[in-house]
Amino acid sequence: MAPHDLSVLTASRTADSPNRGAGGMDSLRIRGGKPLSGEIRVGGAKNAALPLMAAALLTDGTLTLRNIPRLADIATMTSLLEQHGVTVSFEEPTNGAPGRTAKLCAAGVDNTTAPYDIVRKMRASVLVLGPLLARFGRARVSLPGGCAIGTRPVDLHLKGLEQLGAEIDLDQGYIVASAPKGLTGADVVFPFVSVGATENLLTAAALARGVTRLKNAAREPEVGDLAECLKAMGARIEGIGADTLTIEGVDALSGADHLVPPDRIETGSLAMAAAATGGDVTLVGARPDMLEQVFRAMGQAGAVIDVDGDRVRVRCPRVLGVDVMTEPYPGFPTDLQAQMMAMLARAEGASMVTESIFENRFMHVPELSRMGANINLHGRSAMVRGVNRLTGAEVMATDLRASMSLVIAALAAEGETVVNRVYHLDRGYERLEDKLAPCGAEIERIAG
Ligand code: UD1
Repeated sequence: MAPHDLSVLTASRTADSPNRGAGGMDSLRIRGGKPLSGEIRVGGAKNAALPLMAAALLTDGTLTLRNIPRLADIATMTSLLEQHGVTVSFEEPTNGAPGRTAKLCAAGVDNTTAPYDIVRKMRASVLVLGPLLARFGRARVSLPGGCAIGTRPVDLHLKGLEQLGAEIDLDQGYIVASAPKGLTGADVVFPFVSVGATENLLTAAALARGVTRLKNAAREPEVGDLAECLKAMGARIEGIGADTLTIEGVDALSGADHLVPPDRIETGSLAMAAAATGGDVTLVGARPDMLEQVFRAMGQAGAVIDVDGDRVRVRCPRVLGVDVMTEPYPGFPTDLQAQMMAMLARAEGASMVTESIFENRFMHVPELSRMGANINLHGRSAMVRGVNRLTGAEVMATDLRASMSLVIAALAAEGETVVNRVYHLDRGYERLEDKLAPCGAEIERIAG
């Protein structure tokens, strides 16, 4: 192992991430208290689309990705890939197909540096590291730094790539990785589950010499989806969906045509918004099989969830307290913890919400408290004592999922709420106000 200064990898930055979506400093004004009612179509999964786009770097063929959502994070990944020399074009959907189609071609890559200015906006930028290293034998990628939900180091990504034979140094805030003679397959055992590290290693191993086994790999559906796309590009991968992935490296990969799955986090968020308002909403184009734990917890909390193919109908006559703990997939996702807490804020009885993935993912708690929620933090757990009513307030979004939790609380609250810093929301929710308004939500964007 190269002499890393690991303190660099764990250094924390300020809580206020510099991410800015198309919405700049826009805010959302919400007048709550009305049950949501109607149908909402779910968009393509952000966390599937980002690693898929980075995987385009693995081939000089064209990778066609369908059902790409319109999100600030997708725009950030597009800028990152374009500055590497990838050509990216988007086509609007035809014949009522959902989402846009992106065509990415990395035949003309002339730059293997991922600059700080882009990486700092979005941590998933680090997903270009594995593909660049595997195909070009070198990469220089800015360290992502901290973010609002914790320090989030990348040590597992780097240790894993070193086990595949990469030399890694840190230079002025950059990861400098090289493998002049290519990468070699190895057994990599992750000490704990990391989605991003699994994805970086999976893409790198696809072009390594020999066999790689990734043990304790993340089982998130987005990892499985990336593996399916890599297989369509010619990779040899076994164990998709299990915690050991076996990859037999190939000399080259080709282009492919791949459909991005629906966003399970958006689905869960909208289901919680429906339940929190006592509404009756049908989510269309969903993958309910990816949300079993979420729907189980929501069911225990009083929601009635009816699944019919890709349609999920959510009703909730009354919300009951329930204990929830976030865990790697197939457990309850950390990306829905804040939204679930907003739903439970008005429950009958108390709930214990425990965050086991990130160390500091309770930034929404003080803001929910300003709306009348009764929440006490004890280390990694939050005790949520249900209150009869929430009241509107001016609140501040601090990160992507915390923003959605404030929107849910606002929809369930009496009176008017203004959610500031909506650029966080725009990173991961496509046209949220346009999706909620037809269901009766009084919600409008105020340009900032
Ligand atoms: C991905 C998701 C994010 C989700 C998270 C956990 C994308 C683009 N983002 O993020 O929405 O919240 O999974 O489901 O898919 N860790 C280390 N060292 C590492 C890597 C991770 O200590 O090298 C820690 C992290 O700080 C965190 C935990 O491991 O505490 C899990 O992080 P990880 O699964 O890697 O999250 P991301 O891939 O960044």
